[in-house]
Amino acid sequence: MTVVEKLQEWKTLWLARKWMKSNARFLPAWHIYVGITERLFERFEKGAFPPVIAGKYGLDAELLAKWVDAGVAVGHLKRSKDGRVHAKREMLEYIEGGRHSSVGALIREMMELHMPTLLQYPRLLEGRQRLDFHAETHGPTVAETSSLLEKLAFPKIAGWLREHSARSVLDIGCGHAGYLIRLGRRFRDLRLLGIETNEAVAKEAIRKARAEALPNLELMHADIEQWSGPSAPVDLILMNNILHYFEPGRRRQLLRKARRLLSDNGSIALVTPLYLAPGGQPFSAAFNSFMAAHNNLHPFPTERELAAYAEEEGYAVDTVSPIIREGSWYFVGLTKQE
Ligand SMILES: C[S@@+](CC[C@H](N)C(=O)[O-])C[C@H]1O[C@@H](n2cnc3c(N)ncnc32)[C@H](O)[C@@H]1O
Repeated sequence: MTVVEKLQEWKTLWLARKWMKSNARFLPAWHIYVGITERLFERFEKGAFPPVIAGKYGLDAELLAKWVDAGVAVGHLKRSKDGRVHAKREMLEYIEGGRHSSVGALIREMMELHMPTLLQYPRLLEGRQRLDFHAETHGPTVAETSSLLEKLAFPKIAGWLREHSARSVLDIGCGHAGYLIRLGRRFRDLRLLGIETNEAVAKEAIRKARAEALPNLELMHADIEQWSGPSAPVDLILMNNILHYFEPGRRRQLLRKARRLLSDNGSIALVTPLYLAPGGQPFSAAFNSFMAAHNNLHPFPTERELAAYAEEEGYAVDTVSPIIREGSWYFVGLTKQE
């Protein structure tokens, strides 16, 4: 072996090791996904022996033992001296419906929706094909993950609403109606209307709204593109996390339709990722790679593209302010022009 070949071998090894170290982050994500899907963290909440859990729940004992070893290695599980295994408290909090708002839905969305799509990229690139996004299967998860932004985005929406003295709000693609419910709790006299095209998501929104008993909140299962509009113009339209459902031509139509539904001093508030926005380049690039791989989803616009649609359709861009910079999520406020 020549010196050059030896050096090349060391370099190959060094690159592989460096890659393995940085890529090891996949392991915790996989581990949590399995734990959440099979409710394993709950099984180990109070401490248990893996073979006992395998027997009790009819699981493959060898695979469970390996999952437990991986969990101990990445710090999700603890093993006592007697061999009993305990789930760490934060793992239990990750479970959907857990004590804090959950990351379970985020993990599920990444592993069941984003990763499988991104793994098909070579096939899609070569075949010049696109996938279909199955809204019936993934709609509820996507609505749930979007709602995790509410806590941070809501103060900006509430501030905008006050500033513009809005008395009525229409939320297009309202998901589980989280923004409308928060608005209804805070501003008792607002007239609130939500429209949602996914039936399962709309049903869940109606269930949540009923539990709040807000007298001025109305929810509808309908498609904004088919819908004739509310009985009277509204002062504020929300369009949160919906632009990827509309290709650019239809985004303009959506803004045009919104303009017709708005009162004279009306405005639009959007919570949306902006492609390649400062600080959020990697996240928004991954997001848009995912969107572009589908026939029925469309990449998010850059700030400049969104401003161009808005200005062409008769709005002024008043505010663009970050909600989560590293996620490229922004609050955008548009006001209707004469
Ligand atoms: C990602 S979710 C966001 C939900 C909510 N706006 C939020 O930010 O938490 C987008 C929602 O828009 C709905 N949607 C998409 N196209 C629509 C249309 N044409 N009319 C009404 N709703 C639509 C989807 O079904 C989905 O539930």
